[in-house]
Amino acid sequence: MDERRPRWSTRALRRTPSPIRELMPLLSLEGMISLGGGYPNPETFAFRQVRVELKQPDGGEGGASLLLEGPELLQASQYGATEGLPALLEQLRGWQRFKDGVELDRNQLLLLNGSQEGLYIAADLLLDEGDEVVVDEPTYPGALAAFRSFTDRFLAIALDGEGMCTDELSRLLERRRERGEPLPRFVYTIPNGHNPAGVTLSEPRRHALAELARRYDLLLLEDDPYQLLDLDGGERLPTLQRLAPERVLRLDSFSKILCPGLRLGYATGPAELVRAMVLHKQASNLHTSSFAQALLQAYFRAEGNTGLLQRVQASVALYRRSRDAMVAAAHRHLPPEIRFQVPRAGMFLWFALPAGCDAGRMVQQDARELGVLLVPGGAFSAQGGCRNALRASYSMVDPPRIEEGMRRFAEMIRRELARG
Ligand SMILES: Cc1ncc(COP(=O)(O)O)c(C=O)c1O
Repeated sequence: MDERRPRWSTRALRRTPSPIRELMPLLSLEGMISLGGGYPNPETFAFRQVRVELKQPDGGEGGASLLLEGPELLQASQYGATEGLPALLEQLRGWQRFKDGVELDRNQLLLLNGSQEGLYIAADLLLDEGDEVVVDEPTYPGALAAFRSFTDRFLAIALDGEGMCTDELSRLLERRRERGEPLPRFVYTIPNGHNPAGVTLSEPRRHALAELARRYDLLLLEDDPYQLLDLDGGERLPTLQRLAPERVLRLDSFSKILCPGLRLGYATGPAELVRAMVLHKQASNLHTSSFAQALLQAYFRAEGNTGLLQRVQASVALYRRSRDAMVAAAHRHLPPEIRFQVPRAGMFLWFALPAGCDAGRMVQQDARELGVLLVPGGAFSAQGGCRNALRASYSMVDPPRIEEGMRRFAEMIRRELARG
């Protein structure tokens, strides 16, 4: 962090705690008659009982039932603490310990409406106009959209087969320091099953990034929704949070491991950062849906950490089949000059075409007629690059359609190569 700049954006510095929300701890004091709360009376709530039937981990019928009723349903129906439902916060501390080996204090965790909300809040807290952010090139457009709400200055660091090129980042930071120039406000990266590039940050690069964060007092924003979609198994790589807990704001998401419609994710990190995020959330949406949180809590009660991991393994098996089908079909159909990495996690394959190819033109001119759609790479670039690349996702298509899709994509490429 640059010592000449305050840590927070001008908006974050202006923010004060909600006076009403700050009174909440007094509510639970023995004998307190609260005339202060503006909550609706629970007698007016519509729901008596909520029952959700789970699938078996393999997708079959006859899974456990989740039942919300009585005090738990009242809690799910009422306003709640901004940080999240206390029991769920405890559960998630245990989940983080279980999957990442990271120990968190109570004040280091905040429930979110998906990790996307965390990207936006982090940007709002840390970025003023003209501030710079380090991003991967290419990167997730949802993050670029969030960051662009506050600044349009990006320092794009290339990705290779091992993830973000930390040597390039190291040179950039060194140059900045030598010249006495401001350092970037944070480094954003997607360490596993990168969207869109499909790569996973290697263990040496993770250590290198943690080391740079320490050397330059930088904040790392670790956005990790594909962590558990680890298609090739093996030992889980350490999270950046595990390697540099005091310098990492980490985002986890249930979108890819339970379902995105729940809109549940959570942020973890240094307590003062999480506290600043809480103040933002007080101002923007009070708290994440208590209903969604109560369902997740009931889910953990029914299946536990190991049950969730088991369920994810079934999803992983599905994605692995699809990935293998796409990789095999790409080898079969695409011209040899098309480059791609085999992803070991996540949902995406990134195809790099020869320089001079225009992916936007390809999709515009031929997608409709050929009946195949990929996302042109430009959508993923902070600096107008990646014009000769495209992202394919194997998450929603079965192997026979993947095969036909790659055959059509090969024809799209041949047409573009012929246009010269
Ligand atoms: C890298 C990355 N970050 C964040 C998100 C947003 O996920 P969520 O549903 O948790 O908001 C996505 C969604 O695709 C993503 O790919």
